[in-house]
Amino acid sequence: MGCGVVADYGHLPAIVKTPGLELVAVMDPNQERVHAAAEKFGSPLAFTDAKSFFESGLDAVLICSPAGAHLANVKNAAEYGVHVLCEKPLAMNDAESEEAIAAMDSAGRMLFTGFVYRFSPVALQIKAWVQQGVIGEVRSLRLIYIWDLHGQYEQDVDGEWVESPRWRGRMLEGGPMVDCGVHQIDLARWWTGQEVARSSANAAWVAEYEAPDHVYMHMDHERGTHTMVEMSFTYGHTVREPRHHFSYHLIGTGGVIRYDRNGWILEARTGQETIRVPGGSEKNFGGMHAAFAEALRTGEPGHLPSGRDGLIATHLARTATDMAIANRFTPTAVP
Ligand SMILES: NC(=O)c1ccc[n+]([C@@H]2O[C@H](COP(=O)([O-])OP(=O)(O)OC[C@H]3O[C@@H](n4cnc5c(N)ncnc54)[C@H](O)[C@@H]3O)[C@@H](O)[C@H]2O)c1
Repeated sequence: MGCGVVADYGHLPAIVKTPGLELVAVMDPNQERVHAAAEKFGSPLAFTDAKSFFESGLDAVLICSPAGAHLANVKNAAEYGVHVLCEKPLAMNDAESEEAIAAMDSAGRMLFTGFVYRFSPVALQIKAWVQQGVIGEVRSLRLIYIWDLHGQYEQDVDGEWVESPRWRGRMLEGGPMVDCGVHQIDLARWWTGQEVARSSANAAWVAEYEAPDHVYMHMDHERGTHTMVEMSFTYGHTVREPRHHFSYHLIGTGGVIRYDRNGWILEARTGQETIRVPGGSEKNFGGMHAAFAEALRTGEPGHLPSGRDGLIATHLARTATDMAIANRFTPTAVP
């Protein structure tokens, strides 16, 4: 459901390639888009209304409509007894997310949140190293993604520089912590196996929206591990040659795990050795859909994030953003 940007580059190519999954139907209220997707990915059926879509006989649905439509889509799936993999955020707020989870629970069907970063070989390798205790007990995580979100400005048909609607939209929805930071928050909970006991956030405003565009979030986990997440949409948002920075650092009692997109470095440095493995992209739609196919076959979630995992990460990201806004420092005038 939803044949937009992420369906086109991520989900649909993965679904058609995944053994155990069969693309039966696509749905989007936009007629042009739904037919284009059906043609491009070979879907036998294409619908612009949800009722006909669900009546076409589905086992599972992938929801990648805009966040505001997720709750209605999930409730519809629950009504028809269809398992769900839903893009993040699960819904617009905690109450809606609880409603989505309850609807799927009463239907006795599985609900997963599409935190696609978990399935990258990098994240899975880190999970394995942490579980094997390769760096001892993990005490500190630094998860950084600072980038330009493809730039704040773009040229329109007349060559005029205008603000990118995509950039503006993501800032109005809550900014970088809500949009991208949810993935890092989810990784921190998943890697450490620890819930977040308390959190705080501070931020900078490079562009002037209500939401901060460069956020530093701190989380204390229940067994004392600390995570810092740094997220930005204004790291080079106006420059000709932006340079992104994406890294994970996990610091343990017996070593350090380090991933850096620049150079695709992934390594664990310990007292005995340095283990290096090839790094790769941080997202893996194919891996996530393979896990979804396995969950549909076995009824077991594997590494798939639950609906509640989706709720928790989004709640933490929104709370951090609200805290940063409330804590915003107002300088006094300097004479
Ligand atoms: N995990 C990731 O890496 C990642 C990346 C991008 C987007 N996303 C998430 O995926 C979702 C979609 O993002 P996008 O960038 O593809 O958006 P988009 O606007 O490009 O596409 C959304 C599509 O949904 C359709 N739609 C609108 N209402 C609908 C409804 N009621 N039912 C079904 N379809 C409906 C729209 O017509 C549009 O074609 C968002 O929740 C976004 O946060 C996740």
